Amino acid sequence: MRVLVTGGAGYIGSHAVRWLSSAGHDVWVFDNLGRGHRQAVPPDRLIVGELADRAAVEQVLRTRRVDAVMHFAAFALVGESVAEPALYYANNVLCTLTLLDAMRAAGVSRIVFSSTTATYGVPQTIPITEEERQAPINPYGFTKLVMERALEDYSHAYGLGYAALRYFNAAGATPSGDLGEDHDPETHLIPIVLQVALGQRPQVTIFGDDYPTPDGTCIRDYVHVDDLADAHVKALERLGPGSQFKLNLGTGRGYSVREVIEACRRVTGHAIPATVGDRRPGDPPELVADSRRAQAMLHWTPRYTAIDDIVRTAWTWHRKHPHGFGD
Ligand code: UFG
Repeated sequence: MRVLVTGGAGYIGSHAVRWLSSAGHDVWVFDNLGRGHRQAVPPDRLIVGELADRAAVEQVLRTRRVDAVMHFAAFALVGESVAEPALYYANNVLCTLTLLDAMRAAGVSRIVFSSTTATYGVPQTIPITEEERQAPINPYGFTKLVMERALEDYSHAYGLGYAALRYFNAAGATPSGDLGEDHDPETHLIPIVLQVALGQRPQVTIFGDDYPTPDGTCIRDYVHVDDLADAHVKALERLGPGSQFKLNLGTGRGYSVREVIEACRRVTGHAIPATVGDRRPGDPPELVADSRRAQAMLHWTPRYTAIDDIVRTAWTWHRKHPHGFGD
């Protein structure tokens, strides 16, 4: 298939690009490089452009005769979305609607969409199934939920085939260590802890240890970025006209913040000083996926379930690229 990957220069997108190419697809990346990295993409596959520019997007879809879109381009920081909701509505909602318009005009009727566990808000039941009520508690989660609803409506009205993949905590890096996570500023737990191991930060602050969990720190389901990429390729290959897949992507295994830090100590051999600070507003105590539906529908099995294995791949990346892509 000829696939356009928006946000393909970002963390999850760049891994998906690699998996798509390995699976034999003809891949084009569309990215404005605002948060993505030129070095994360094969240079002859990168189209630098703005999704807000409908005509440009439509032209790319037509001239490359695109069959399907993988849409990663979005902002994805909860705290930022609370402080700057306008950015999130503009980028995650408006730009996605513009993309869908361009796709309709160009006759492209398949899309794999990056959704998130943040659409569930504070879940009633753990592990979280796709039937869980979606009640986001921040603008980021809400913008993703809005787009899930739009995809459903477009599917009914226009026959769009879509997969909304609700990621839990993306983590890790390609095992060779040449693609990985590089955010500025970095807010995610594993890269922050590994930056402490590298001596780039003095310590990690644990955001609260008074949660109703066994060790008092928040529990998350860390899913390897290559397993996410694999699920994307499988979802794409199963999409037909009018398909509506809404699938959780996680491992079904949760680790607390303290357990993650311990794993990082084991893998790196560094002491990694940690102190306890205040809770971070908007953090649910526990998010763990029931992803049996994705496993059954996509014939997908996450290869990485042990946190040490996930951390090890991230550590290889961080050691090889202590300053990320360096751009
Ligand atoms: N944490 C710390 N200290 C840090 C950084 C994080 O204790 O310095 C904790 C957080 O409080 C949280 C856990 O580590 O309990 C994981 O935090 P991350 O920031 O790595 O990930 P989140 O769970 O906050 O974010 C993920 C996705 C978001 C998504 C969100 C939904 O990255 O895109 O889950 O809750 F919106």
